[in-house]
Amino acid sequence: MNQDTSKTNAAKEAVKLIRNGMVVGLGTGSTAKIAVDLIGRKLSNNFQIIGMPTSIKTEEQAKDLGISLIEIDQAETIDIAIDGADEVAPDLSLIKGLGGALLREKKVEKKAKELIIIVDESKIVERLGEGFLPVEVSVENHELTRNEITELGCTAELRIEDDSLPFITDNQNYIYHCKFENGIQNPRELDNNLLEIDGVIDTGLFIDMASKVIIGTSNGTKIIE
Ligand code: A5P
Repeated sequence: MNQDTSKTNAAKEAVKLIRNGMVVGLGTGSTAKIAVDLIGRKLSNNFQIIGMPTSIKTEEQAKDLGISLIEIDQAETIDIAIDGADEVAPDLSLIKGLGGALLREKKVEKKAKELIIIVDESKIVERLGEGFLPVEVSVENHELTRNEITELGCTAELRIEDDSLPFITDNQNYIYHCKFENGIQNPRELDNNLLEIDGVIDTGLFIDMASKVIIGTSNGTKIIE
């Protein structure tokens, strides 16, 4: 499977859903980046959109492409959001945030009337938790927060960058990568339990949010909704 072609096929299909004048949540990560590029290329006198970026990186990309932008608090609702995901379960629940932008992604995408997820086939799982679940935590007392997180039955490793320093999110927090040995049995309950822990800012569990998942393949797309 050519992953880049698959991602591009998914992104192209998603961009077809955007209409002139829409306010669009712009995702983060390699697949969303392709979609943002395609939006930028499509801009014309007859096709203008307003973007709400989900990260500083996407904001910079969109600015370079000449896409008009608004801040997260400038609109209560937005027409559509397009973003990638790390895992997609059959009920369209998701793990997101391995790109480190989960907090702003969730804030923007909760405002979206439609959240379109674009992935290649490698992201489709039977049960969430095949890989890591990212959890964003305050820097202050983060080790205590980690201890409480692991009491929920997982290991939790601080995300470290190539320079050996902890990854800092756009909101100046840390990320823990949590691994549940047999996957996540009850994503909703886990999400609630994690959010009750002091110091947990948000989780990479996106439940009841995706309207449609476009899976790019080497020669087209498949849709689940
Ligand atoms: C960013 O924080 C993430 O939620 C990404 O959307 C996710 O990691 C998917 O990224 P790729 O499209 O690069 O796989």
